[in-house]
Amino acid sequence: MIVLKSDAEIACMRKAGHLAWELLEKVGALIRPGISTQDIDDFVSAYTKEKGGISAPLHYHGFPKSVCTSVNEVVCHGIPTRKQVLREGDIINVDVTPIVDGFHGDASRTYLVGERISPLARKLTECAARCLELAIATVFDGCRLGDIGHAIQQHAESQGFSVVRAFVGHGIGRVFHEDPQVPHYGQAGKGMRLTKGMVFTIEPMINEGHWDCRVLSDRWTAVTKDGKLSAQFEHTIAIRNDGVVEILTQP
Ligand code: MF3
Ligand code: CO
Ligand code: CO
Repeated sequence: MIVLKSDAEIACMRKAGHLAWELLEKVGALIRPGISTQDIDDFVSAYTKEKGGISAPLHYHGFPKSVCTSVNEVVCHGIPTRKQVLREGDIINVDVTPIVDGFHGDASRTYLVGERISPLARKLTECAARCLELAIATVFDGCRLGDIGHAIQQHAESQGFSVVRAFVGHGIGRVFHEDPQVPHYGQAGKGMRLTKGMVFTIEPMINEGHWDCRVLSDRWTAVTKDGKLSAQFEHTIAIRNDGVVEILTQP
């Protein structure tokens, strides 16, 4: 069941989305070789509270921290720890989801750590960012779900990369993960039509090698099966009741 949002509800979601963006901006300034993924969690947890929000990941289906930190071959849902220290040349996705006034804002970016980044890591990260941009550009009142996935798959595969199948974008609102599911692969012109009042994420995970993933014994950390790199970007998008497509997780 898809929960359509009123303009007033979308205005609330804009606040949550804005906080998500702010968190990612500030995380970007924090990231450098030598910090731990727990340092990122400490910051996200404290800043979210300071702004009157709640970190949705904490205790979500048992997730133990306030943010997901996914380094190199980790596809998503990496758990911050004091032990994991960022090194020159790493790539790290930071995925934040604050709740403000009962509504979720969900966004992530992949950051390059330090200055000496391999050309492949840079190309993969740029590709994932571009996939999200191209996907958002396909969204309008009446577009089909398959248009979004097609745009992402087309671009990623044209660069020699692959699109993760096991994790998808999602409707979002008072609930973290709502209908519909938003696959990041698919066929143009196929699938459900998106309409006014829908709010959902697009969050393509792009792999250097094969798209297959496995989940570690901590039951959260998803990694590439082949051990190669993965990069991801995410925004929360609304099709407003005036038909305008708005990215909620930006200023
Ligand atoms: N933020 C993730 C998403 O984009 C979900 C994280 S669930 C958690 O949907 F429990 F790991 F936090
Ligand atoms: Co999401
Ligand atoms: Co997210």
